[in-house]
Amino acid sequence: MDHLTHVKHPLVQHKLTLMRDKATSTAVFRQLLREISQLLAYEITRELPMTTRAIETPLQPMDAPVLSGRKLALVSILRAGNGLLDGILELVPSARVGFVGLYRDEETLQPVQYYFKAPDHLDERLVIAVDPMLATGNSSVAAIDLLKEKGAKDIRFLCLLAAPEGIARMKDAHPDVPIVTAAVDERLNEKGYITPGLGDAGDRMFGTK
Ligand code: URA
Repeated sequence: MDHLTHVKHPLVQHKLTLMRDKATSTAVFRQLLREISQLLAYEITRELPMTTRAIETPLQPMDAPVLSGRKLALVSILRAGNGLLDGILELVPSARVGFVGLYRDEETLQPVQYYFKAPDHLDERLVIAVDPMLATGNSSVAAIDLLKEKGAKDIRFLCLLAAPEGIARMKDAHPDVPIVTAAVDERLNEKGYITPGLGDAGDRMFGTK
């Protein structure tokens, strides 16, 4: 995959505009995030390895395509990653799931780890790390550092919005990790928020402030 895939599908772009709108309610925001996550998951899993399995249709035997290898691992970067996770799990229900708990120190903008749990055999799985916002890139880089320390070799990063600063930071730290995003926004503001963005994804999703 290319280092950056910008998914410009009209359904993705339409739903994203609704999500950006501050008038959109928490419930609708969450539903849209679930829907977009599935469209982005479709893109990020496009080249999964396949094999065939011998089955019998009602008419005749056939060798039919199925996914090969170990179940993929989805890793949610808490807490906003959970909004993407739910939708993707509906598409890939047998995926294994991990969590990385990082919060952003509001002064330094550096990630602080408070939780990490990952599926086993990460080295044999496609690992998809999910976080709606690729802002400074600090949390994403830290999460991927942890996954690589646990053995992950084939990692992809799925987000909703990416800032150029975050993309550059990821490319510098993890050039082997392709990014799939629904939008590349203009820049970060002085507080590290993506602009024009959609605000704090966790707050929008969970109705907190
Ligand atoms: N995290 C968010 O939720 N929003 C941003 O704009 C940046 C980081």
